[in-house]
Amino acid sequence: MPATSESTTIWDSRYLTDPNVKPPAIVSNIYLINGEIRTWSGKCEQVNTPIYRSDGGKPQRVSLGSYAMLSEAVSLEAGKAAVAAYNHGRGPWPVMTTRERITCLEKFTAGLKSIRNDIVALVMWEICKTKDDAEKEVDRTIVYINETIQALKALENKDSTFVTDQGISAHIRRKPVGVVLCVGPFNYPFNETYTTLIPSLIMGNTVVMKLPRTGVACHFPTYQLFRDCFPPGAVNIISGSGRETMPPLMRSGMLDAFAFIGTSQAADDLLKAHPKPHRLRSVLGLQAKNPAIVLSDADIENVAVPECVLGSLSYNGQRCTALKILFVHESVYDRFLHKYCEAVDALPMGLPWTQGTKITPLPEESKPGYLKELIEDAVGKGARIANQRGGQFDRTFVSPTVLVNVNDTMRIYHEEQFGPVVPVVVFKSLDEIFKYLEESPFGQQASVFSQQDTSTVAALIDDLVHHVARVNINAQCQRGPDSMPFTGRKDSAIGTLSVSDALRAFSIRAMTATKPDKEVNRKMVETIVQNSKSKFLKMEHLF
Ligand code: G3H
Repeated sequence: MPATSESTTIWDSRYLTDPNVKPPAIVSNIYLINGEIRTWSGKCEQVNTPIYRSDGGKPQRVSLGSYAMLSEAVSLEAGKAAVAAYNHGRGPWPVMTTRERITCLEKFTAGLKSIRNDIVALVMWEICKTKDDAEKEVDRTIVYINETIQALKALENKDSTFVTDQGISAHIRRKPVGVVLCVGPFNYPFNETYTTLIPSLIMGNTVVMKLPRTGVACHFPTYQLFRDCFPPGAVNIISGSGRETMPPLMRSGMLDAFAFIGTSQAADDLLKAHPKPHRLRSVLGLQAKNPAIVLSDADIENVAVPECVLGSLSYNGQRCTALKILFVHESVYDRFLHKYCEAVDALPMGLPWTQGTKITPLPEESKPGYLKELIEDAVGKGARIANQRGGQFDRTFVSPTVLVNVNDTMRIYHEEQFGPVVPVVVFKSLDEIFKYLEESPFGQQASVFSQQDTSTVAALIDDLVHHVARVNINAQCQRGPDSMPFTGRKDSAIGTLSVSDALRAFSIRAMTATKPDKEVNRKMVETIVQNSKSKFLKMEHLF
């Protein structure tokens, strides 16, 4: 059998011609600057979906409309609008009290709920998340906003006081850092963009939100909400080529913080463009290649296999947290492989709205070709496709493919595949795992599977915590719950995002300090506080 094969058996043409399955109508070519929704008359690009429709003839790729390929000039205009709206902390958004900002966010969230189904439909069509996953992405974001509001109230309540130490009385509070550029990824275009946008905003920063080129459509229904819920310039939304729109913003020096989910290469290039990189606060979610380590006493059938299937192939493996390489102890390798391949081959492939679908078409234009290269490289060096359905390619569909006999000479051993190809490596001793971890440029998470081998698991934990930021025991890797720190080492992340960490990431502590043993100082502060003369010194309890 060739390493990969072109097949026409993956697609079910019924879905493509069903007249009840219509793409959502989108309002596109728009952008938001300084509270105005503008229509772009320059170059645009199609919002292509990975879904094909056949009206009798050759199947055509479904397009949802087009989006604006904004110019460098427009990008800079968005930056200037954010700078003006921030106005050194004197703009209408940063001067609002926390209570007032929360009120705006609550209005925005109520609006989001009313357009929730539109956003879900666009996530399903444009990036082919299953209905369940698309709903989860949007609902989880709404929960995230509410939790952020609660976390901010707790933070403000705690800070609403004076502390005295060594003869100094201080009032310490978190203030915004300034203008933030938020850039989300294609695979969680809604949720991950909001996990940096919302904490940035609620802390009083103003924002330029650059939409991902794939995953752009789900944002179109939100423009009016942003316009109607926040002061002009607090949120500016641009789209287009990252290479055209982002470097000028960086070079301009207008940005104080950079929230980016993407590759470390792109992040590095952008960071270098800032005239004063030391001034730029960076919160980066970058690449990862999380390993699963299946020990000899793992519960293969009930735990390791189901968790590895979920971990490696949920949303076709297009999650930064996905298990992207499986290390299996030689003593359980055959049993694991048999069960894993069986489970992988049973994953239903289809379109996102079909009940039970698990594997869907891939939205990134170049991904099938890239995955094919990885498989062919591995097979050329001695790997083998282990599952029956593996290695089939049909337009944007790639069948989930399990590669065995994988070793460190192969690209799939090192590269983050971000798709439905799973390399399995057999190991004898933990040293092979330690070597992988030491040499890997990635450091996000790992999963360890064992039932009772506490000594080995303990040894692994103690080593792994120096390589990755989260060790999952008998569970797949994942981002949530959002109350817990989400971060990584090495090339995987900078900064930590949990609901409460994110509030800290997009703010800086400022304080007043005085010597209260002097009557004049005490009186000064007391008078300001009692008469609510200063917003900073306002003692506000938000519950
Ligand atoms: O792609 C990165 C996401 O943050 C992964 O989130 O583990 O909840 O799917 P998840």
